[in-house]
Amino acid sequence: MKNKKRPLIIGITGGTGSGKSTVCKAIMENIPEENIATIEQDAYYKDQTHLTFEERLKTNYDHPLSFDNKLLIKHIDDLCEGKSIEKPIYDYELHTRKQDETVNIAAKDIIIVEGIMILEDEELRDKLDIKIYVDTEDDIRILRRIQRDIKERGRTVDSVIEQYLATVKPAHDQFIEPYKKYADIIMPEGGQNEVAIDIVISKIRTQLN
Ligand code: CTP
Repeated sequence: MKNKKRPLIIGITGGTGSGKSTVCKAIMENIPEENIATIEQDAYYKDQTHLTFEERLKTNYDHPLSFDNKLLIKHIDDLCEGKSIEKPIYDYELHTRKQDETVNIAAKDIIIVEGIMILEDEELRDKLDIKIYVDTEDDIRILRRIQRDIKERGRTVDSVIEQYLATVKPAHDQFIEPYKKYADIIMPEGGQNEVAIDIVISKIRTQLN
């Protein structure tokens, strides 16, 4: 990390399927790897290895209490102090953290924190220097989620629709959308919004210089 300056922490949030990871990827691709790291709130879903697979299926993954924000905040603090962290790895098919496997993340000048509920927790929100809300229409988000969860997360169409109606949508209306008011930047169309992404990249480059 250059000059041991406190890193710039950028929060990227928005509903499921809004394109948060595409925005992160676009930013990461344009900034040298040595300067930037992403930590996903999803990696901090609470460890559920003590539960059976059937019990894990009953967890509501769209409630703030399902995240270990305490550890996430500690890791942000560690990175700010120039320490490296061991970021957990989350397994969406087994619904828990991987055991004995983490990713080592060194302190960097720019840290992106990406996740659905990073603005809802006040302590976490206050750690973020720039808060971006990726704002994508609900129909587009659910269509993307169906495709992604089947291709990448081992789900069926029925299970995705059932989960969406039971927990994902109500949580969006309760814990995600109302917190848009805390965002500094609202980014319509997410990954497709090249102008907005370029502005964020320029801000990062200014910070690095
Ligand atoms: N989730 C799940 N099963 C788990 C853990 C999480 O289905 N065991 C789901 C939650 O229901 C939550 C979603 O994962 O709604 C959060 O990830 P999401 O925001 O959809 O993915 P990202 O790739 O981070 O974001 P984007 O789609 O915006 O790129």
